Amino acid sequence: MSKSPIRVAITGAGGQIGYSLVFPIASGAIFGPDQPVALHLLELPVALKGLEGVKMELLDCAYPLLSEVVVTDSAETAFGDVDLALLVGSKPRGPGMERADLLRDNGAIFIGQGRAIDAHAKKDVKVLVVGNPCNTNCLIARAQAKRTNPANYTAMTRLDQNRAKAQLAEKAGVAVGAVTRMGIWGNHSPTMYPDYPNAFIAGRPAAKVITDQDWLDGPFMTTVQQRGKAIIDARGKSSAASAAFAAIDHAREWFRPTPAGEWVSMAIPSEGNPYGVPGGLIFSFPCTVDAKGHYQIVEGIDLDDKARARIQKTTQELIEERDAVAAMLG
Ligand code: NAD
Ligand code: LMR
Repeated sequence: MSKSPIRVAITGAGGQIGYSLVFPIASGAIFGPDQPVALHLLELPVALKGLEGVKMELLDCAYPLLSEVVVTDSAETAFGDVDLALLVGSKPRGPGMERADLLRDNGAIFIGQGRAIDAHAKKDVKVLVVGNPCNTNCLIARAQAKRTNPANYTAMTRLDQNRAKAQLAEKAGVAVGAVTRMGIWGNHSPTMYPDYPNAFIAGRPAAKVITDQDWLDGPFMTTVQQRGKAIIDARGKSSAASAAFAAIDHAREWFRPTPAGEWVSMAIPSEGNPYGVPGGLIFSFPCTVDAKGHYQIVEGIDLDDKARARIQKTTQELIEERDAVAAMLG
């Protein structure tokens, strides 16, 4: 008997990231080569025609695993019975804008979508917010979680982890797969803390392989923190394919156990964390995922005073973002 499909909602599916996301997911990039998927694609009414074109292309790929494609401008329909919701739809940052500029514009979207998820998705739906400012948008969506599991509302810092790994690998002259335990702490913003002191390269501490401490504390850190802006400056548009692939990485690795010795960076609810970050934030921690698809924060990570100061800075920014949207959290 063939398996029933896993249902995946993607908001903003007609946008840049959406276009890079739907094809790999339909070909099995999240759930593997034996698992059918149904795609529920949500767009604004104005973008539905274009999205119908994306549906035509999806069908024309004749993916054996793609059981159904729903194209809709109704959040109720889009989130109906879904197992995974990828919340991408929102306005991207343009040249000269900071993420804070997006708070007001994009926050409201996540109230309505949070409500629709809570009312219509599977009870144990897993939610990944990509649309910026993603940590705080996730907080807004999670505030609507009455029936669904509030622990399952996450935001994306996997792109930052991937960027940091790529920088370390290039500097060390190794393949990117040799870099492990690359944790990202805090906000998906320039205040994030890419935790290189705890990363490993080919099984050795990164700072023992890359002995150029000035580079680690300077260009490495700022390149990772400012990569989004650098891409906007270069392309005139924000990152798209790399963001889509990071979303796929985040989702795929949330449904299967983390390989021994590896960490995954996920922005998750901060309640009860062992590092003294206040509750009530969506905060990125190094995590592992168990065989049941539940994440846990990695405990016992060594953080020196410099690291703690960096974590404090990104915490403060998230508190300020939360305060700015307090009216949307009620
Ligand atoms: P885009 O403008 O190309 O696409 C966004 C799409 O969302 C558009 O098609 C738009 O019609 C749709 N949309 C807007 N409001 C919607 C709503 N209420 N419901 C459904 N659809 C809606 O933008 P993009 O480049 O795909 O980026 C999307 C978001 O992802 C932006 O906020 C961007 O900043 C963010 N982003 C996050 C990361 C990350 O690492 N977290 C990385 C890259 C981009
Ligand atoms: C990114 O990191 O590429 C995105 O979040 C886009 C942005 O605004 O930085």
